[in-house]
Amino acid sequence: MTLVQHVLHKYPAVGRDNLIPILQEIQTAEGYLSKKSILEVGRYLDIPASKIFGVATFYNQFRFEPFGVNHVQVCRGTACHVLGSSTVLQELEKHLKVKAGQTTRDGQFSIEVVACIGACGLAPVICVNGEFHAKVTAQSIKEIVDSYKTKGE
Ligand code: FES
Repeated sequence: MTLVQHVLHKYPAVGRDNLIPILQEIQTAEGYLSKKSILEVGRYLDIPASKIFGVATFYNQFRFEPFGVNHVQVCRGTACHVLGSSTVLQELEKHLKVKAGQTTRDGQFSIEVVACIGACGLAPVICVNGEFHAKVTAQSIKEIVDSYKTKGE
């Protein structure tokens, strides 16, 4: 039994209301929603895959690509926002040439926007593979990210 089948077996096929919890459970287990998983859910609930994709896109909690080797979480909580996290995020997206929720083509980096990660005193803060980086600026973000690139080579 595949992981998706395992999740689907917990929900009655008639319940379209179950779509979001099903997608959440699959994403928790697989880290993202693959095209294959969406098709499988669509067949089970009798909903066109395009519709599921549309619904999932509306909720920005879902991602459609696996995480990169290095996963960068950018905090967009209030303290980080006030101290410039949106500029940090913009610079990061420009530097890696992907948007939040996406993964670089070489699979090295993915970006995720997260709510407060409980380190407001370090704002603006990012977290790469579980390591916190404090008082990040539009300049330092590139060096931080590049240091992970070197580590992986
Ligand atoms: S707001 Fe960013 S760590 Fe709290």
